[in-house]
Amino acid sequence: MMTKKILVTGAGGYIGSITTDLLLQRGFNVVAVDNFSKGYKSPLVYLQNKYGKNKLIWYQKDLIKDNLEDIFKKEKIELIIHFAALCNVGESWDNPELYFGNNVVGLQKLAEAAIKAKVDKIIFSSTCAVYGDAKYLPIDEDHPLANPSSPYGATKKMCEEILNWYSKTGAMKYVFLRYFNVTGATADGSLGDSKNPSFHLIQNAVRGALGLAPFELNYASVNTPDGSPIRDYVNVVDLAEAHIKAADYLLKDDSESNIFNLGTGAGNSVLEIVSLVKEKTGVDFEVNPAKDRRKGEADKMIADITKIGKVLDWKPTHTLEQSIESLIKWYKKYPKGWNN
Ligand SMILES: NC(=O)c1ccc[n+]([C@@H]2O[C@H](COP(=O)([O-])OP(=O)(O)OC[C@H]3O[C@@H](n4cnc5c(N)ncnc54)[C@H](O)[C@@H]3O)[C@@H](O)[C@H]2O)c1
Repeated sequence: MMTKKILVTGAGGYIGSITTDLLLQRGFNVVAVDNFSKGYKSPLVYLQNKYGKNKLIWYQKDLIKDNLEDIFKKEKIELIIHFAALCNVGESWDNPELYFGNNVVGLQKLAEAAIKAKVDKIIFSSTCAVYGDAKYLPIDEDHPLANPSSPYGATKKMCEEILNWYSKTGAMKYVFLRYFNVTGATADGSLGDSKNPSFHLIQNAVRGALGLAPFELNYASVNTPDGSPIRDYVNVVDLAEAHIKAADYLLKDDSESNIFNLGTGAGNSVLEIVSLVKEKTGVDFEVNPAKDRRKGEADKMIADITKIGKVLDWKPTHTLEQSIESLIKWYKKYPKGWNN
């Protein structure tokens, strides 16, 4: 069987680098594209050393400013996994034009080049932020998208709509993976989240416990049993595995465009997470509650993962404890994350 070549955008970032690792491990060839505005070359160099330079090729390209057609002409791409985006919810409130300009235009430019090259399969990184406040729990894929919780969430909804029209016109086939809260690093701590601070509670709590950065508990009182927001935390390696399953699904001739939630189906409160991190690290670090509730912060978000289980045969395999252990390894190895 011919080795399949996958184009991974945003491969220098947190989730992109870890998914690229798993793709290479499973025998795919990867063509990576990143402008390195938020991501790093170092994880790609690490992966080239691990798997060979012929298995992973990378291009420093911006989805909006650069011509992507050359890449499609040169490389025989069979499927795209599109991670590249800006994803800081707070920043998207301060500077929504940056988010519409990068995330929506970036997807459109990528799709334009792909369609021209007759590459018609794409896995798109979406988010539970497209749902806005939960009308019911757990949230299934049919939950209304009437009110995304932030300009960032709105960009993801717009991207979904664009791809949905390309699917209707027959130009492209998609899988949308709507991630809930992503956490953890690879089990050996070799690849992880370099955002400093991270946008993620568990990452920041572990960094706080290890004394790498002050940890500020960023929540305000909500209507849950302990008064702190409840979220569904999915391990990043489990998440990467779902992308492999989605790729196998899309590469089948008879598959149809589809949408899947990607979470665990269980929720933990902010305060539960903080005490688990204290327990796993053995550090009773100081917690300073933040004053303001983040804009668009929902009380409770939990995924219904029945569909992804049935159609892609995917289920989470890592516990929260394992995610925290992997983060401890990652931050001990790379206290500041990648720096170039
Ligand atoms: N981390 C999460 O919890 C989470 C949750 C839901 C959805 N997502 C989505 O998953 C994807 C990956 O998230 P992440 O946490 O790995 O983010 P990240 O910032 O670590 O990675 C994103 C990568 O995209 C690159 N990029 C951004 N704009 C680009 C452009 N115009 N051209 C080329 N490259 C560009 C950045 O340089 C970076 O390497 C994003 O689409 C994000 O919206 C993440």
